[in-house]
Amino acid sequence: MKGRDDSIPPETGGTGDAERAFYGRRKGKRLRPGQEQRLEGALPRLRVALPERGEFLDPPSLFPVPIDEVWLEIGFGGGEHLAAQAEANPRTGIIGCEPFVNGVVKLLRAVDERSLRNVRVWDEDATALLAALPDASLARVYLLYPDPWPKRRQRKRRFVSDASLAEIARVLRPGGHFRFASDIDDYVGWTLVRAARCPQLRWTAETADDWRRPFPGWPGTRYEAKALAAGRRPSYLTFEQVSEG
Ligand SMILES: C[S@@+](CC[C@H](N)C(=O)[O-])C[C@H]1O[C@@H](n2cnc3c(N)ncnc32)[C@H](O)[C@@H]1O
Repeated sequence: MKGRDDSIPPETGGTGDAERAFYGRRKGKRLRPGQEQRLEGALPRLRVALPERGEFLDPPSLFPVPIDEVWLEIGFGGGEHLAAQAEANPRTGIIGCEPFVNGVVKLLRAVDERSLRNVRVWDEDATALLAALPDASLARVYLLYPDPWPKRRQRKRRFVSDASLAEIARVLRPGGHFRFASDIDDYVGWTLVRAARCPQLRWTAETADDWRRPFPGWPGTRYEAKALAAGRRPSYLTFEQVSEG
């Protein structure tokens, strides 16, 4: 998050893979007893269990209801976008990744209050989950307002890299979409440069409105609301997976 303490040590993700690390906060304000209870009661039921190394998940089978396709949201924050999408698309299974426990508990509350049955949670670094997904298994991947890490020396912490885009392209089915939003122009340019180097991703924009206008059916996110209130103008990038099936 913006203004995050630089001294926070990186914590490695769930795979023991030291190459990438999760750099953000896992905890914010102390959880209230009701939130602790919700976490203990609901998270084990909704949490994705990763398979043994070398094996892959079967994403549709993670959900207890019939699912037509599966989407992934990386860094869902408080889960406002994820919950709205899950409610609007009950036959879509949505896996949300977010290691920040206070955000996870907010999503769990929405899942409970809206009786959502098409949501699953991975409360660790998204990199570990991506590695456990089979090729061409998702219809959509969202990365919305990722931590900008604005200082030059911090930029290697950004979630978008050549390697992460290659993974996102691998798990998307042909014709599937990667949707990225950010209010930080430098991060938008950073992502466009790396996506242009990824042969399996094609930026779909044809006119400026295609990146200035939010995605269709867009419920917004908490970070977007902050950006707009501060007078920043977000960009919305859609990339299509273009490899042959
Ligand atoms: C700036 S916040 C944006 C939250 C939300 N998408 C929104 O727009 O309101 C970025 C979020 O990404 C999460 N995040 C950062 N690195 C991550 C990673 N490697 N895997 C999953 N989530 C990550 C952070 O914990 C944080 O909640």
